[in-house]
Amino acid sequence: MSTAIQVENSTRVVSDRYAASVNSEWVRLLDLLQMNVRYERCVGTELFTADGRRILDFLSGYCVHNVGHNHPDVVRALHSELDRSGPAMIQTHVSDLAGELAEKLCKGAGGRLRKVFFPSSGSEGVEAAIKFARAHTRRDGILSAEHAFHGLTCGALSLMSDKFWSEGFGPLLPETAAVPFDDLQALELKLKTKQFAAFIVEPIQSEAGVCVPHSDYLRTAESLCRRYGTLFVLDEVQTGMYRTGKFLAAHHFGVEPDMVILAKAMSGGLVPCGAVLMSKDVCDSVYSSLPRAFVHTSTFSENSLSMRAALATLEVLESEHLGDRSTEAGHYLQSRLSEALSSYEMVKEVRGVGLLMGIEFQAPRQLRLRIPFEAFGAIHAGMFGQILVMRLFRDAGFLTQVCGNNFMVLKVAPPLVVTDAQLDEFVAAIGNVVELANSPGSFSSEALGLGRRAFRG
Ligand SMILES: Cc1ncc(COP(=O)(O)O)c(C=O)c1O
Repeated sequence: MSTAIQVENSTRVVSDRYAASVNSEWVRLLDLLQMNVRYERCVGTELFTADGRRILDFLSGYCVHNVGHNHPDVVRALHSELDRSGPAMIQTHVSDLAGELAEKLCKGAGGRLRKVFFPSSGSEGVEAAIKFARAHTRRDGILSAEHAFHGLTCGALSLMSDKFWSEGFGPLLPETAAVPFDDLQALELKLKTKQFAAFIVEPIQSEAGVCVPHSDYLRTAESLCRRYGTLFVLDEVQTGMYRTGKFLAAHHFGVEPDMVILAKAMSGGLVPCGAVLMSKDVCDSVYSSLPRAFVHTSTFSENSLSMRAALATLEVLESEHLGDRSTEAGHYLQSRLSEALSSYEMVKEVRGVGLLMGIEFQAPRQLRLRIPFEAFGAIHAGMFGQILVMRLFRDAGFLTQVCGNNFMVLKVAPPLVVTDAQLDEFVAAIGNVVELANSPGSFSSEALGLGRRAFRG
């Protein structure tokens, strides 16, 4: 049997087993998009597949792999933590690493952030922030921004206005409301009611389409929150850990939040870890007496592998100056992309900060392009974006995705260790893919192929 057939067979065995016992629709979707490959080795920005392809990761697991895949220092730190047979999950001890990590995170974040709770995911961090804000303010309401993404547990989901995520899972938390992002008037109208414990917002909305607010939005939002007694909480699950060039995206806007939620990139993409950074006052409101010393906790909180991986990840981010690299590479990529794509009317804007970037597409005006664009958009709003993603993957070897709450924006977020040569490769690839999308025949045949595969499945 040829190697290619062996690889295909083994991919099928893995997929069939997964489909039978985990989630068959996920396998169907990846098959449909021709993205169901087996990754064998992942290093830095490169992913090597069982069938001998090299894929460049320009998604980073939605901003998980800031230090690149399997960074040797983080891998080494995890090995050494396992080798020392230290205390793990004892539950009734003081973790020897959590204090050190909390100290470093608070030093990096600055402002009023002095204390940390360690969840194991972004959603769990959002849940904690909701509870802590209520405990501190004795108010019930939680305010968020429209089109936000905060996670899929019930509390976090209650802060997401896009109904796709919550349909069929209600009822969700009462007393929640959403205001348009970057709209101070709407925010003040809600805050004035003095019913809200917290305004939880992403400083740059990632899944909404990499939306960067006006420069004074967050600063004014913070002062409005203070005026009306609402905590100002930043969800930096995607934007934190130098993704946008600074340790927190908050640092671009000169704000001092009462709480910050981190996760994703915190632990090198190898073990689950999150952090809720908060002011001492907020912390004291939760852990307010001896009997309440453990009133909010979780089994995997402060586990030694997560703490060790996060300490090693911070060290890498700082010693390799990956914040500066993100800024520099972001400027380079943005100017190269603008240069390569500005002549296409279907490209509306290239925007972002550091290496959190989005390319926004729009319906073309020319009739010959507009007709297929709208016809396939009517079948599924995500069709256009998925054809771009599929072509980038299949024809050019780039892993990307469109934003979860805005299918017209292609997210571009490679690991911060990406090289200029890899950025150049991406610019050439997206140029080719957009050029093909600009030819109605090629777009239609791709869309029909996708439709046929979906129908057959
Ligand atoms: C901004 C933001 N907040 C929270 C979350 C939820 O994080 P997790 O998937 O780790 O629960 C996500 C996940 O994508 C996110 O992008």
